[in-house]
Amino acid sequence: MTQTIAVLPGDGIGPEIIAAAIKVLEALQKSFGLNVQVEQGLVGGAAIDATGYPLPPETLDLAKKADAVLLGAVGGPKWEPLPIARRPEKGLLGLRSELELFANLRPALLFSELANASTLKPEVVAGLDILIVRELTGGIYFGQPRGMRTLDNGEKQGFNTLVYSESEIERIARVAFDSAEKRDKRLCSVDKANVLEATEFWRDVVTRVSQDYPDVQLTHMYVDNAAMQLVRAPKQFDVIVTTNMFGDILSDLASQLTGSIGMLPSASLDAHNKGMYEPIHGSAPDIAGLNCANPLATILSVAMMLRYSLNQGELATAVENAVSQVLRDGLRTPDIQEEGQTAVGTREMGDAVVAALV
Ligand code: IPM
Ligand code: MG
Repeated sequence: MTQTIAVLPGDGIGPEIIAAAIKVLEALQKSFGLNVQVEQGLVGGAAIDATGYPLPPETLDLAKKADAVLLGAVGGPKWEPLPIARRPEKGLLGLRSELELFANLRPALLFSELANASTLKPEVVAGLDILIVRELTGGIYFGQPRGMRTLDNGEKQGFNTLVYSESEIERIARVAFDSAEKRDKRLCSVDKANVLEATEFWRDVVTRVSQDYPDVQLTHMYVDNAAMQLVRAPKQFDVIVTTNMFGDILSDLASQLTGSIGMLPSASLDAHNKGMYEPIHGSAPDIAGLNCANPLATILSVAMMLRYSLNQGELATAVENAVSQVLRDGLRTPDIQEEGQTAVGTREMGDAVVAALV
């Protein structure tokens, strides 16, 4: 049966990294028996320019009907003057919430070839393998009320709401415990329970859910300490589960442990493992169109898509092995380039991964 992939390149470097990922998909179709149909759609700034909306109804429809969604990146200075409600980022947030993709898996895995590319000492990061499970459809990103208001004294105020209901915490906790069970069976729940009631509640619910997972060792950590521990001794972590905003911040931090934000893929899953796959990095408008963005995070997102939504674990491993191979061969985009190495472009890196597929 042919499975459909909705491909949404978006803005900035989005189209370039997606072009590299599509070449990988085409190679899998041609030589590895993958049976998929790719349908492209507009999202973010590209969609605003074409239709006036960051998430046009046709795109939402395409994403809903597809078996999986592959997204590049959204946003850029061109659209920054727009009000928040109409910015490119709303396209991404709208997809996450409309498709109920509440579970965001962000693996921070260090390819051994890149141990020297991290700004941390190689011995601190060698062998690093962390999974950040970020809640993606709740918390302060979506809490109501939100907006701008004018107080009685005439002063203007911006406000957002951090809110988590029990079912939202419970379902993300279960995803995290399930993931931990398949790994090293250690789960660290990150919160700010000493200050924020919503995350004190988070801690209570995660603790209750832990009773169903007696073989997983649960610990709790405040987010400020977690940020510090991630750079001090990152290998103490196996799986981290945290709120939408803390996960946003900590996953950028964790990406740098692996050498570059250009290396980290992500999967955003609903309750039935339907997913949207995207690199965790943004649209990098400063390097857009220059053929120098790292396509590996997007290509590794294709691997996650194959594994989680398309039931093609072997092909996923083949893609991951091909990425390892090109790194072993010394290919580097500028973000992971070390002294003495020549850098290759986005296209060349994508082509090399295709050539390394076996
Ligand atoms: C991410 C990004 C997004 C987020 C932006 C682009 C809305 O930073 O996926 O981490 O904040 O979730
Ligand atoms: Mg982010």
